[in-house]
Amino acid sequence: MAVVSLLPGWAMVFVGQPAPSHWTLPRPHARFAANVHMATGDVLLNVKNLQASVDDNSILKGVNICVRRGEVHAIMGPNGSGKSTLSKVLVGHPAYEVTGGEVTYREGEDLLDLAPEERAQQGVFLAFQYPVEISGVSNADFLRLAVNKRRGALGESEYDPIEFFGVLGEKMSSVGMSMDFINRDVNSGFSGGEKKRNEILQMALLEPELAILDETDSGLDIDALKTVAAGVNAYKNDENGIVLITHYQRLLDYIKPDFVHIMSKGQIVRSGGPELALELEKDGYKFLNPV
Ligand SMILES: Nc1ncnc2c1ncn2[C@@H]1O[C@H](COP(=O)(O)OP(=O)(O)OP(=O)(O)O)[C@@H](O)[C@H]1O
Ligand SMILES: [Mg+2]
Repeated sequence: MAVVSLLPGWAMVFVGQPAPSHWTLPRPHARFAANVHMATGDVLLNVKNLQASVDDNSILKGVNICVRRGEVHAIMGPNGSGKSTLSKVLVGHPAYEVTGGEVTYREGEDLLDLAPEERAQQGVFLAFQYPVEISGVSNADFLRLAVNKRRGALGESEYDPIEFFGVLGEKMSSVGMSMDFINRDVNSGFSGGEKKRNEILQMALLEPELAILDETDSGLDIDALKTVAAGVNAYKNDENGIVLITHYQRLLDYIKPDFVHIMSKGQIVRSGGPELALELEKDGYKFLNPV
């Protein structure tokens, strides 16, 4: 259960399973760089030649991407190209084995050396492509415990339930969610679009330094898409970074990317500016398989 409160979005993986001891051991805070120097343009995430496999099948085959503070990067690419795998490897999903490369975070911290919950506490957030349902855990408790763990890692005081209720209400209205959702179990019975909004609510509450949004636009109706995009734009600032995984230019009309990358067969094969997404919208991925 401890892990549930630390890593919103993929807690389901751990519910009912004892966390491996190396995920729960206390680690000295000296391992984390102090946030003394946070300026737009500083490198926030540097992925170099990242390789990963699942069940001995190689999926990521040398991914390179560098995200600086203040930047929005969109990752596009055909189904099965490895976009979600990249996002899950970055947050430490245990199904994936990193077989090569390196990932540094902020002032050079080795992201791959951190346990999943440490990554979450240190401000790395993933909004899942397929948010998980957690029966028996109320959304309000889940969110409060997660936010308090993040606040603790930042040296800030924890919210008591009453204080948190006020914060939650404000954030829920900012992402267009009714208060009816607070006492429901996490994502339990939520519609596809409601789950996506709930992921953005987590992001708004946790205020991550690096937010990875995996197809947050899929399943949203057009009004919800605008509300969610407004929530992301409200969170975006000069100090954080956003990685948006999407199939559609439509989202990028609302959240302007600084860079667009195309992933194919486990690698980023092209990078460019927003015009690259427009080109894809027009011509698709034909250039990946020239005849
Ligand atoms: N846990 C897993 N077990 C087996 N295969 C996996 C697993 N995770 C990913 N894969 C395989 O890795 C490849 C990349 O999957 P991934 O989900 O990263 O693609 P994607 O680019 O996110 O695709 P989509 O656009 O459809 O979401 C696929 O062939 C997928 O079947
Ligand atoms: Mg995916």
